[in-house]
Amino acid sequence: MQKKALVVDLVDERPSATLTTRPVNTLGPDLVRVQVAYSDINYKDALVLKARSGVVRDFPRVPGIDFSGWVIESSDHRFQVGDAVVGTGWQIGIQIDGGYQEIVDVPGDFLHPLGGKRTVQDAALIGTAGITAAIGLTKVLDSRALAVKDAPILISGVTGGVGGWQLAILAQLGYTNITAVTRQADLAPQLQEKGAAAIIAPETLRLEPRKPLARQKFAVVFDNLGGDFLADILAQVQQDGHVVSSGNASGIKLTTTVLPFILRGITLHGVDSVNYPVDDREELWQLFENNFWPEPARRPDFTEVQLAELIPLLTAYPHSAHHERTLVKLRSRRPRGLEQK
Ligand SMILES: NC(=O)c1ccc[n+]([C@@H]2O[C@H](COP(=O)([O-])OP(=O)(O)OC[C@H]3O[C@@H](n4cnc5c(N)ncnc54)[C@H](OP(=O)(O)O)[C@@H]3O)[C@@H](O)[C@H]2O)c1
Repeated sequence: MQKKALVVDLVDERPSATLTTRPVNTLGPDLVRVQVAYSDINYKDALVLKARSGVVRDFPRVPGIDFSGWVIESSDHRFQVGDAVVGTGWQIGIQIDGGYQEIVDVPGDFLHPLGGKRTVQDAALIGTAGITAAIGLTKVLDSRALAVKDAPILISGVTGGVGGWQLAILAQLGYTNITAVTRQADLAPQLQEKGAAAIIAPETLRLEPRKPLARQKFAVVFDNLGGDFLADILAQVQQDGHVVSSGNASGIKLTTTVLPFILRGITLHGVDSVNYPVDDREELWQLFENNFWPEPARRPDFTEVQLAELIPLLTAYPHSAHHERTLVKLRSRRPRGLEQK
């Protein structure tokens, strides 16, 4: 048996992607074999094709850090043929082959069963982006800073996967005073429809020259940019406020002072979606079954592409303006003969 796969290998020390076919080998012990329905595009997937990004160390590799689909063979007693499942993080698509192929073999620990209301398409829409947003939210939702629904909230990188999910969930939870940061001013109407009260450019929050403390503007900040943006933001968070740092789209270097922490009592939370513990992941998927799942108008928009369209999209992704999730559709229906569970 053969499967279609997008394989990235090094050619003259640069990552190069090819759409190819690969043999489906005998399933290893403790692994689960999944017929992929959907994968998606995350910032990290695009970095696999970027020279010297360091995201993947061992080539050849099939990228795709997320996938959803149906179990077609299992050496793990927890999963039965026909189960709908999703896999995100855990080095999928980085240290083991990921979702940009028709069939994936993964350890059962990397899978979450989709037994409830969420479909394989919903699960791909959530993906690492939604999980990352949800992890950050669970760190601050019970804080006093978010006790009122009109708490001033800031989300940067809001047109991206993670930021889009942060906006969708917060709006669904009833927060009304959300400022969205984007360089794409033309997207203001769409962001307002999704629940943003104000749309601003990143430069609006720049402190020139940088100050350790500035006017207190936001109770909670969800930051996906990092770098100088985050440094400037720390000085503008209200007394006892929170900053959730989940991304580095504009830089990894953080130059700051201790003053926002020791004079304003603010808390900086880190988010790591890759190694997030299994039991806590179960709780997140439960939240997406219920109150985190946005009504249709608030849900992140998405387009569907085929595996064959993926290479140019991945190559352009880090530099292209985007504002919706991209799902990679490999198969929309259960393989024939697999029972609906
Ligand atoms: N902590 C974790 O576990 C985790 C998990 C997933 C992702 N991440 C990280 O989170 C970040 C967002 O990921 P994503 O998948 O949501 O990415 P994405 O879909 O590419 O979105 C990133 C957004 O950031 C903005 N942006 C990009 N480069 C920028 C720059 N130089 N200056 C200002 N704004 C910039 C863009 O918005 P505009 O064009 O509208 O300005 C873009 O839509 C990435 O750094 C990613 O590596 C972390």
